[in-house]
Amino acid sequence: MTPTTHHSAPLRRQLTDKLSADGFLRGSRWEEAFLAVPREAFVSRFVLHDPSGERAEHDLATDGAALEAIYTNASLITRHDAGGTPTSSSTSPSLMALMLERLDAHPGHRVLEIGTGSGYSSALLSHAVGPSGHVVTLDIDDALIARAHDLHRRAGTTNVDPRVGDGYQGWAAGGPYDRIIAWATPHVLPRPWMEQVTPGAVVVTSVKVAEVALANAVLRCHVTGGQPWLLSPHPGSMIEMHARVLTEFRLPIRYVDAARHTPQGPCWISGAALHAHPSAAAELLRDLTPTMTPLPSAPENRDGFKAWVLATHPDQAATAGDPEGWGIGLAGHDSAAVVRPDGTIHHAGSDRLLHQLRRSVRAWNDAGQPGFEALTAHAHPTAEGWAVRVSRRQQGLTGP
Ligand SMILES: C[S@@+](CC[C@H](N)C(=O)[O-])C[C@H]1O[C@@H](n2cnc3c(N)ncnc32)[C@H](O)[C@@H]1O
Repeated sequence: MTPTTHHSAPLRRQLTDKLSADGFLRGSRWEEAFLAVPREAFVSRFVLHDPSGERAEHDLATDGAALEAIYTNASLITRHDAGGTPTSSSTSPSLMALMLERLDAHPGHRVLEIGTGSGYSSALLSHAVGPSGHVVTLDIDDALIARAHDLHRRAGTTNVDPRVGDGYQGWAAGGPYDRIIAWATPHVLPRPWMEQVTPGAVVVTSVKVAEVALANAVLRCHVTGGQPWLLSPHPGSMIEMHARVLTEFRLPIRYVDAARHTPQGPCWISGAALHAHPSAAAELLRDLTPTMTPLPSAPENRDGFKAWVLATHPDQAATAGDPEGWGIGLAGHDSAAVVRPDGTIHHAGSDRLLHQLRRSVRAWNDAGQPGFEALTAHAHPTAEGWAVRVSRRQQGLTGP
């Protein structure tokens, strides 16, 4: 453990109490892990974006505010590419807690973790499975794995085995696993995962729930007979799982139908209905501009509105982004409209989908802003694994 371990005990207590009060932590096992593992042993130099978008660089060695920043409920950016774009981060504690609670790992379990990152989540898993359990942790980035090796050795952790590997392939040599957790987003549930687990194993991962860029959700499922069962979707999204170390993170890896590069970064559009119409997508991207009349109230819970769009308009769901951010909405070959977190609607082509998007936001508000928890998820076999899709529960979401 680092020398800072004892200083951070009150901050760990504060963060753990907050995660419990907000319902992210629900029982003693993960509470104990969050109390026991010092996050600063794994994340010491990082960038924090505060809610207003301000960016602050911290270094525990030189900066008195760093320790407190480490114990905010925020994703801490730990690695950048040459252009300053994040390539690895320590996931926000609330999303970590939500996923770990659903993983339900027990002492003695063998766990496959995909996306080692800083090593902090591996240390939490190590604590939960105890000395009789085992955690194989994979990252595509060999520098992160070398760092994790070193940090776990220094912390005296003996049940974590960091490996360089592509999460899509799993790690057969360490299995069979009782649990798999992935902190990066595959486009399908990979077939090797289903083959490397014990019967009844639980998998928790961020996964694509539509062939649309950034259409991600957290999914929990059981594996029986080599297939995913009992799928439940939850809000949350991680960086995309990629089969090599990336240098450009600002452009989503999959399902982008048209993109344009500017000195500030890429502009792009992705829509379920645009994949077969690349020239229409390029035209819509060219014409996409903010409308003069933003929504009276923005969908603050963007994950919730994303869930609504994917469930009520799966064939028209779309996302579009630029260096300032991205929006979710609808696109067809003649029209596109997406709403950004500030309520601005970006629109191109005819007014058809602009009106439909406004109606959809109203209907979502009238329904009480349901989110992924109000949906059901299904898995469909594909060549690479299982594609996950979401739909309305029998009596849940209704809307135009
Ligand atoms: C959000 S970070 C993980 C955060 C980590 N759980 C922590 O506590 O710091 C996601 C990680 O997934 C890794 N990753 C992306 N694609 C991968 C792949 N195909 N296989 C393994 N790791 C991958 C990235 O290199 C990155 O370190």
